[in-house]
Amino acid sequence: MTAHYHILGAKQFNRTELEELFDSAARMEDRETWNTDPRFAGKIMTTLFFESSTRTRLSFESAMSRLGGKVIGTENAAQFSSTIKGETLEDTIRIVSGYSDIIVLRHTDIGAAERAAKVADVPIINAGDGAGEHPTQALLDLYSIRKECGRIDGLTIAMIGDLTYGRTVHSLSYMLANFQNIKLLFVSPENVGIPSYVKHYLEEQGVAYSETENFEDALQSAEVLYQTRIQKERFPSIEEYRKAEGRYIINRDILSRMRKDSIILHPLPRAGEIAPEVDEDPRAAYFRQAQNGLYIRMALVEKCLTF
Ligand code: NCD
Repeated sequence: MTAHYHILGAKQFNRTELEELFDSAARMEDRETWNTDPRFAGKIMTTLFFESSTRTRLSFESAMSRLGGKVIGTENAAQFSSTIKGETLEDTIRIVSGYSDIIVLRHTDIGAAERAAKVADVPIINAGDGAGEHPTQALLDLYSIRKECGRIDGLTIAMIGDLTYGRTVHSLSYMLANFQNIKLLFVSPENVGIPSYVKHYLEEQGVAYSETENFEDALQSAEVLYQTRIQKERFPSIEEYRKAEGRYIINRDILSRMRKDSIILHPLPRAGEIAPEVDEDPRAAYFRQAQNGLYIRMALVEKCLTF
């Protein structure tokens, strides 16, 4: 099997690679270049999604199409692939490797992308592995921060909401360790705090962080408010979910107390934690952030296919 450039987790990236990817993504924003690159003509991407998705799957599919390649896939692989007949992930990946040049995988199990990469003969992109990681989301989050704030070094970033099951928070925290003088503020209900393995990594890397249940702490200090959805589908019981839901809602009142130079990000979908009245505020950057997903994913597919 040949060596491939897989995207499995956020820790695999160093700062130089991140800066290169951001520069490529910026290049991808130029529509004049779309569909003109002969390197991707005839290339096929498979999107294999065992969990629901709107932005991630469609932005990957759009990215491949914009590059001039083709897409096949299943958006409901748990039900409509041979998994329902008992096929293992490894077997599915071996087969799909023979039909395409790159596989984008979203799965329910932590570590699924790594398992896939062991048997795949094409690059694997982790588009979310259960409550584990979501590295391509973290890349577009960082790209958005760089665009909106003009820098990443020196920022205070508050991550708010479900920090246990929210995989985007794990990947973003890991990736931020590549930057200088970052301060992370984890704001969460007590039963969905940031996992200790994420904290250990930050300590090893010398990243300053603190934990609180008090949203007000973030309003005064953070330049980036990274709001997240309480991941209802991942809780062990409805009682545990009820303890965490509805605690931090960004609304007009919060906006009036936020820093003037701050931005609000959210990986989306939102489920009530940002009121629609916030959308018109210039600090509401989450729709621009979702659009950036297209450019980052074009850059990633380019990198994987030309490695
Ligand atoms: C996130 C995910 O799937 O982890 N969504 C996304 O990819 N933009 C966040 C979420 O589902 O809450």
